[in-house]
Amino acid sequence: MTTSTSVSSQRWSSRWLFVLAAAGSAVGLGNIWKFPYIAGENGGGAFVLIYLVCIAAVGIPIMVSEVLLGRQGRSSPIHTMRKLAKASGRSQRWSVLGWMGVLAGFLILSYYAVIAGWAVNYVWLSGSGAFEGASAQAVGQSFDDFLASPFELIAYQTAFMILTIWIVGRGVTQGLEAAIRWFMPLLFLLLIALLVYSFNSGGFDQGFAFMFDMKWDAVTADSWLIAMGQAFFTLSLGMGTMMAYGAYVPDDANLGTTVVTIAALDTLIAVAAGLAIFPIVFANGLEVAQGPGLTFVTLPLAFGQMPFGSIFGALFFLLLSFAAITSAISLTEPALSFLVEEYNAKRQRVAISLGVICWALGLGTVFSFNVWSDVTFVGGLTFFDSVDYFSQNILLPLGGMLITFFAIWLLPRGMVEQQLGIENPILGWAWKVVAGIVAPLGVLAVFLSTIWPMLSGLWQ
Ligand code: PFF
Repeated sequence: MTTSTSVSSQRWSSRWLFVLAAAGSAVGLGNIWKFPYIAGENGGGAFVLIYLVCIAAVGIPIMVSEVLLGRQGRSSPIHTMRKLAKASGRSQRWSVLGWMGVLAGFLILSYYAVIAGWAVNYVWLSGSGAFEGASAQAVGQSFDDFLASPFELIAYQTAFMILTIWIVGRGVTQGLEAAIRWFMPLLFLLLIALLVYSFNSGGFDQGFAFMFDMKWDAVTADSWLIAMGQAFFTLSLGMGTMMAYGAYVPDDANLGTTVVTIAALDTLIAVAAGLAIFPIVFANGLEVAQGPGLTFVTLPLAFGQMPFGSIFGALFFLLLSFAAITSAISLTEPALSFLVEEYNAKRQRVAISLGVICWALGLGTVFSFNVWSDVTFVGGLTFFDSVDYFSQNILLPLGGMLITFFAIWLLPRGMVEQQLGIENPILGWAWKVVAGIVAPLGVLAVFLSTIWPMLSGLWQ
């Protein structure tokens, strides 16, 4: 344990705390509402298989590269890239990767805090019995009314942001680790409680079949791209979060097994979330709606029809809030660690300044749902959609691809093998092929497929 605030001297107390912290970053809104839905829509078990391939062939190599660079540089992502570029005789411009991560973290956190605020509000709403016996129309209306009120959205966004900033300002040991020690076990417990509840809901068989039946005819070329994009976002890759967290990994931790454990935990929780959600939806004969609709309309409606639904509904939203907070704290780390290092500044002060700017940016997302709902930017996207699109579909894949390329092809010879403890030359080559060719090409495919429609729209 360390009390110093300098980035290079801070360490996770153990390898396990790093695993929990990285899993905390990975498990978020992306796992709990997005994964179950896209899995169901893209062929159930067939999609889960494709997703596992993407996690193994693209997600794990990129995560290993990020953590490895972080541990080698032992600084914020921007400084790490500068240091390692210098050590390998490469251009200092590679530090632009660190800057892209800082920007992506800002943009993602600005809207993440708004959506997480919805989850916090729904803890109270569900717990107070507001949805007990309510009609579909009433539940939908209450969500619409909430979105239409900037004041309410800002109140919850602010509360979530204050908690995030308070945690990260306290530092790695007292802030990040302390939060993770509480929130991660609670998250596991809540998920188990919800699984037991959904098992007894009467819709378990249908929910299980929806998630796991191998419906290969529902798989399209797009399903591969969706699986890859999801693997990427859910593992928090491409923006230096894992590099920033990697800077605090103890020297003796085996990176390969550590990263595989993190990816396995993230996948397990995504699958468990699906198994907790769908049976409840099916038991009530409801439509499996999309995205926020499923989480904030269909589920409250389903819980409202069930015995002890208020309690379990509140627990579900508590689970979502915990998952979001451990992701949110990781989103600040690339920028925070850079500013602390660069200006030798106090973490708390930097955290507050970053939080205020991010909060202000988040107001754009808040207004996208009400007063600015008609204001659109490139591609007809609202402010929120634009920020989401630019960060998730452009900055993250581009960052991930370049980070892996740098780690595999540009670092001095032997550095990667030494960090990974690879002694066998055949294994070394296999690693280079998967991480240095398959992973960046896979990401390139996702990247081109997402920006192509946008670019062709611009030219028309
Ligand atoms: N992995 C998070 C989720 O699935 O919700 C989102 C995320 C967090 C993405 C942190 C990127 C990041 F750096």
